[in-house]
Amino acid sequence: IVQTIMLIVGAYLAGSISSAVLVCKLRGLPDPRTEGSGNPGATNVLRIGGASSALLVLFFDMLKGAGPAYLAYRLGVDPVSLGLVAIAACLGHIFPLFFGFKGGKGVATAFGAMAPIGHYLALFLMLTWALIVLLTRYSSLAAICTAILAPVYTWWLDDRFVIPVAMLSTLIVIRHKDNIKRLLSGNESKVSRKRRRKT
Ligand code: G3P
Repeated sequence: IVQTIMLIVGAYLAGSISSAVLVCKLRGLPDPRTEGSGNPGATNVLRIGGASSALLVLFFDMLKGAGPAYLAYRLGVDPVSLGLVAIAACLGHIFPLFFGFKGGKGVATAFGAMAPIGHYLALFLMLTWALIVLLTRYSSLAAICTAILAPVYTWWLDDRFVIPVAMLSTLIVIRHKDNIKRLLSGNESKVSRKRRRKT
């Protein structure tokens, strides 16, 4: 139990490190919390600073989820505790201790945290996200659809993790409520556009 609590706290602290804010600061770019969509995530950094900065953010945001989840997995913690570690990393990203509790939407961190469940799951998540972005150019829509499909894939590949994955997916969908409104009203930014909006 002590080990599990330490893993959960460690995951929350790792999740609290905002890659988007730090990468933008280090690269002399505007703060992603006040530019573009205002979201400190890879998609918004793509709008603000281009592909290389966005890839760095994506990598480190995924690592914040995958690292703690993989460590917990290697230490042999049970699936429920593993789910709590993954959720803690996402909650760190969404409500970061080090950045005034104003974080991102948890997509990269959640998908990173789901990756240790299996290579096929990681592959399916990536392919689903990429396919929807290619077809629609909406990163948010891709994230929402991938989050909805994640528990289905998990049920199919390893049903021990369906509940924690469904919890992560629910978090992601809830965090996209403004994106959902913009998608429905036709005002959502597409990934290729440079248009900037303050929210
Ligand atoms: O990963 C976040 C993405 O799904 C939406 O980001 O900046 O368009 O709100 P954004």
